[in-house]
Amino acid sequence: MKAVVYKGPFEVAVENVPDPEIKHPNDVIVKITSTCICGSDLHMYEGRTAAQPGIVFGHENMGIIQETGPAVRTLKEGDRVVMPFNVACGFCKNCQRGFTGFCNTVNPGFAGGAYGYVAMGPWVGGQAEYLQVPFADFNCLPLPAGTEWESDFAMLADIFPTGYHGAALADVSPGESVAVFGAGPVGLMAAYSCMIRGAAEVYVIDHVIERLEKAEAIGAIPIDFDNGDPVQQIKDRRGGQGVDKGIDAVGYQAAMAGSPAAGGEQHEAPNIVLNQAIEVVNPTGALGIPGLYVPTDPGGVDEASKRGSLAINFGLLFEKGLRLGTGQCNVKSYNAYLRDMIISGRASPSFVVSHTVSLDEAPDAYTKFDQRIDGYTKVILNP
Ligand SMILES: NC(=O)c1ccc[n+]([C@@H]2O[C@H](COP(=O)([O-])OP(=O)(O)OC[C@H]3O[C@@H](n4cnc5c(N)ncnc54)[C@H](O)[C@@H]3O)[C@@H](O)[C@H]2O)c1
Ligand SMILES: [Zn+2]
Ligand SMILES: [Zn+2]
Repeated sequence: MKAVVYKGPFEVAVENVPDPEIKHPNDVIVKITSTCICGSDLHMYEGRTAAQPGIVFGHENMGIIQETGPAVRTLKEGDRVVMPFNVACGFCKNCQRGFTGFCNTVNPGFAGGAYGYVAMGPWVGGQAEYLQVPFADFNCLPLPAGTEWESDFAMLADIFPTGYHGAALADVSPGESVAVFGAGPVGLMAAYSCMIRGAAEVYVIDHVIERLEKAEAIGAIPIDFDNGDPVQQIKDRRGGQGVDKGIDAVGYQAAMAGSPAAGGEQHEAPNIVLNQAIEVVNPTGALGIPGLYVPTDPGGVDEASKRGSLAINFGLLFEKGLRLGTGQCNVKSYNAYLRDMIISGRASPSFVVSHTVSLDEAPDAYTKFDQRIDGYTKVILNP
């Protein structure tokens, strides 16, 4: 089958790889109809992880069941399904408590597994024609037959639940004000989820104009950090006050002000968003941090950040009595509910999708999504 294969920093290719097979009686093979490129793929694509050439990318996968193992109980050939990016067993201590992003079974020696991701186990990615799904009864979310809501449902594999997770970690509640850092797919989904949870005022911080426009289109207040300190910009609009809650949907590759687009040179500051979030949230508030931080970063800006060690204003965090939550999203905790919001017309997360292209066009899509140019906000590949 054809698949998107990592060749080395800033290079992917569409190549022939072996077809996946049923390896365990509870596996299924899914024929992929939609699979997305994620900001998380870019960390590998840019050589900012330990990923070695040869990995098949793709953890945001959806399609039609092609073949079922003999022990599969709830699924059959022809069923339409979307898979959480987490691979999970359903019966280990963490899965049983709902922490499917930290499964102890699927990636021995580590808590958590995913398709097509460095250090997340042996699971081949789904930016391909077919995908092997283990523990299939647990890992497939059934969808209504047909082709309706294809782009909306594709967002259920990762970014809609992950954005919602950011809002849940920050315990965003009706009437609250929230600052969401990052207007990438995860940030936009986090802002959208804050609205779903009843937030009164949502600020979205970024410097990519098309993305800020999408934030504004869903009723958020866009803040361009190239125009000055975003904390000050928010406080100026709120009579000197901060906000109730903060969400970091940027992660360790956070940029400082001044972008190539603004005629500047972009420098990374891996702690900048965390510190701004601590500053902008009012005492007794909370931070949700779905943005990715890693214990080893080969391209880190200094020795400490290469070890994932960042200078955080913990004193201020403590003084303000802020709570914080981090980590991979446990997609299973949310995906069925968010699916039902799509079906009932209460949520349409596909507003983030900017491009839908064929698998063969993946290399070009990676380049443009990585550079955040030409309006590339979220790409769906249709194999
Ligand atoms: N926790 C999880 O389960 C999970 C799941 C998916 C993605 N992620 C992570 O979430 C993060 C966002 O993912 P994405 O797909 O939206 O990626 P993305 O790279 O498309 O979006 C990140 C956005 O942050 C903006 N940004 C950079 N520096 C900033 C700053 N200083 N202030 C405000 N905005 C800034 C960028 O311009 C970009 O638009 C990534 O780190 C990704 O790995 C985590
Ligand atoms: Zn993803
Ligand atoms: Zn498990």
